Amino acid sequence: MNVFTTRKSLNEALASLKEAKKSVGFVPTMGALHEGHLALVKRALSESDTVVVSIFVNPTQFNNMQDLDKYPRMLQADVDLLNSIGEVIVFAPTVEEVYPENDTYTPLDLEGIDNVMEGEFRPGHFQGVVHVVRNLFQIVQPNQAYFGLKDFQQVAVIRLLTKKYNFPIQIIACPTLRETNGLAMSSRNLRLTEKEREDALIIIQTLKYIQSLKATKTPKEAKELAMEYFSNGKLRLEYLEIVNGANLKSLDNEWDEYSVVCLAAFCGAVRLIDNLELV
Ligand code: PAF
Repeated sequence: MNVFTTRKSLNEALASLKEAKKSVGFVPTMGALHEGHLALVKRALSESDTVVVSIFVNPTQFNNMQDLDKYPRMLQADVDLLNSIGEVIVFAPTVEEVYPENDTYTPLDLEGIDNVMEGEFRPGHFQGVVHVVRNLFQIVQPNQAYFGLKDFQQVAVIRLLTKKYNFPIQIIACPTLRETNGLAMSSRNLRLTEKEREDALIIIQTLKYIQSLKATKTPKEAKELAMEYFSNGKLRLEYLEIVNGANLKSLDNEWDEYSVVCLAAFCGAVRLIDNLELV
C-alpha cells in the first residue's frame, strides 16, 4: 500500500490519475480506524477510481490538550486494516505539511451552526475542523468526500464550508455504524472499559426513548422526559438537543419533517456523542 507523508509526493502520485480524468474519492480520518471508517472507505472504493484516506490527528480541533494526547495513534494497524479491504492511497502528513507557514486560512463565518451543541461545549472546535478539511481538500482535490453521520453537526459544517469555498466536491454523508448492542462506533470506544461500554448504552436507549415519545409529546416535553431517563444511568450529560436537521435550530413546540436528536455525554473520562434522526 502507498503511504505518502508529504503534499508533494501525494500530488505526484495523483497527477497522472487526474490527467487521465480518473475520479478521486477522499475519506479524511484521524486514524484508529474501525468498521465505521471502513464502511466509508468501501463506499468510496465502490464509487471512485482511486481513494485517498488521510490519517491525521488534527491538533487545531481539540480544545482539551489531554484529549489530544490520549487520542489513539496506530498508523501501522490502520494501514494493515485498509490493506485488508482494498487498494487505497494513504496520506499521513505531519502538522507542518497540513499547516504550512504560508497558510492563508482566516476563520470562516459558519452562520451560527458552529455555536450550538458541540460548538457550545468545544469552543473553536469547528474552526479547527474547517481549517483542516479546507487544507486537506486543497491538497487532495477529490471529486467526492465521505463523512460519517455520527458527527452529524460536523457534516452540516462541512457542507457549508464546501459551499462557501466553492469546492467542486460532492459531500457524501454515510449512516452511523453501531455495535450489535447499539453503541455507535467511535475511535474513542477503545478507551472505554467493559463496564463503561455497558454504561454507555444509556445513550442509544435515550435516543430511542425520544423516538417513542414523538407521537404523543412535543419536542420540549420529550426532551425533559429523556433527560430524566438519562439521569438514571451512569453518564454525565453535556447536552441533549432536539433540532431541525438542516439548520440545527432547537425544536420546542412542534416537530419538523427533519427532526434529529443529538447528545453528548461523558462516560468516565471519555466524551461520547451520538444522534438519531426521528422518523
Ligand atoms: O471526523 C473526523 O475524524 C475529523 O473531524 C476530520 C473530519 C478527519 C477532520 O480532522
